[in-house]
Formats: sequence, C-alpha cells, structure tokens
Amino acid sequence: MTQINIENIDKTFSKNVALFRKFSLEILPNERLCLFGPSGCGKTTLLNLLTGIIKPNSGDISFSSNGNDFLTPKIGYVFQEPRLIPWWTVEKNISIVLKNVDPKMANLLVKRILKLVLLPNYGKRYPSQISGGEQQRVSIARALVIKPDILLLDEPFSHLDEFTATQLRYDLIKVLEKIKTTTIFTTHNPLEATYLANRIVVLAKNKSTTAIKKIIKIQMDVRQKKDLYREFIFNDSMKKTVRKLFAKY
Ligand SMILES: Nc1ncnc2c1ncn2[C@@H]1O[C@H](COP(=O)(O)OP(=O)(O)OP(=O)(O)O)[C@@H](O)[C@H]1O
Ligand SMILES: [Mg+2]
Repeated sequence: MTQINIENIDKTFSKNVALFRKFSLEILPNERLCLFGPSGCGKTTLLNLLTGIIKPNSGDISFSSNGNDFLTPKIGYVFQEPRLIPWWTVEKNISIVLKNVDPKMANLLVKRILKLVLLPNYGKRYPSQISGGEQQRVSIARALVIKPDILLLDEPFSHLDEFTATQLRYDLIKVLEKIKTTTIFTTHNPLEATYLANRIVVLAKNKSTTAIKKIIKIQMDVRQKKDLYREFIFNDSMKKTVRKLFAKY
C-alpha cells in the first residue's frame, strides 16, 4: 500500500511564473484522491510530477510502503484519450507494457485483466473494431496489468458520452475494490469527483500560482457507491458535495 508525500515543491515553467510554490500534499495508501480545479491550474502537471516525467524545481516527492521508503513504485497511467496503437491488437496494446515477463505469463495476465474490465473476448480485435468506451477500458486494462502501486487517471471519461462514462465509472469502482491501489484522478465533473473519490482536493489559482483551496472528504458508505449511479445522483449527501464543488469552481 503506497503513500505519497509531496513536500514543498516549486514548479516553474516560464521564468518568474511559479505554477506551484511550496506546494505540499499527502496521499494516503489505497485512497482515491481527486484533483479538481479549473483548466490550467496544474492537475496534469501534478500527475506528471508523480511519474517523474517532469521534475520539480525544488522540494521533494517521496513514496513509502508500510512505513518504509519505496523508491520505484510501479505507476499505471490512464490518459484522457485511450492512446492505443491502431495497428496492434488489443492484446498487444496491453502486453507491450509487460516488459521482462515470460510470454506465456504475459498472455495469461492480459486475459485476466481483459476479463476484469469486462472485455473477455476482445484480445484479437484492433482498436478500430471497438467502441470509444471499450478503447478506454483497454487503456485502463493496460494501466492495471502491471499491478500498479499507484494508478493515475487524467480526465479518463471526459471524451465519452454521459451514459458510457456512467457505466465506466461504476465498473472502475468495482475494479478498484478488487485491485487495491493508491489512485489519483483528475476531472472537471463534480458528479464524477464525488462519485469516485474518497477525498477531493480543490485547487485554485491565485494570480499564476496554484494552491489547495479546500479538501473535501467523502463520507459515503461504499455500499451506496455500488448502487446505480442514477440513485447516487439523487442522494442528499452527494448533492451537498456537488453543490460545494460547483461553488468552488
Ligand atoms: N511543458 C510545459 N511547458 C510550459 N508550460 C506548461 C507545460 N506544461 C504545462 N504548462 C503550463 O502549466 C499550467 C498547468 O497546466 P496543466 O496541463 O497541468 O493544467 P490542467 O489543470 O491539467 O488543465 P486542464 O484541466 O485544461 O487539463 C498551464 O498554464 C500550462 O500552460
Ligand atoms: Mg490536464
């Protein structure tokens, strides 16, 4: 179970304009944390900082597992678009991330993960032969097949129609109950934030620098989340949180 500590980081892209200044955030093992905030406030940048794709100018990002330092956690990343290679089958698009795994074992892992994302017989198809929602399921499978210590999802359902997104959110919650992993996702959708997260970090820009404006804990019973999304939308405690998020935007 991986904990993440972001401590006092500064991140500046252009001279003298700090996107983050002494920014700190602790992300707890196995929590589902939502980064919520307006376009340009640095949500994707924070995810990229966690992967190490980009580095902070100063400050520290560290990982620990059961109280011990953890230098190289495995990170699964789901992007806004599925980013599948069109001339590879679904199987190959997933197995490509299983480096140094025996092919037989890789085959088994891919089959298992496709079952988990409810695409059991899709391995031999090409991306053009499956729907947009199914493509995003494949990209979630690709992120999960490595058994990530940390799962990052950057606006994973924003390009899908609301009905497909609703189904995928529901299925993702079920998958995350089976695969325990520290999850951080971004969204502009207050309903999605409230539905998927245990904790929502509301970010806001003050001039050019982003800070945490509010942290909202979701006190929902997990069993309620298993109910249909439609019922969830009309739940009073959810409505309260969604209202708060609209007010902060
Ligand atoms: N590589 C880069 N070089 C220069 N500026 C960058 C770079 N990456 C991000 N930025 C700037 O940092 C700010 C935050 O960008 P980021 O993509 O993290 O925002 P975001 O919160 O994910 O926005 P959105 O909701 O639109 O996806 C923006 O002003 C962006 O222009
Ligand atoms: Mg972004």
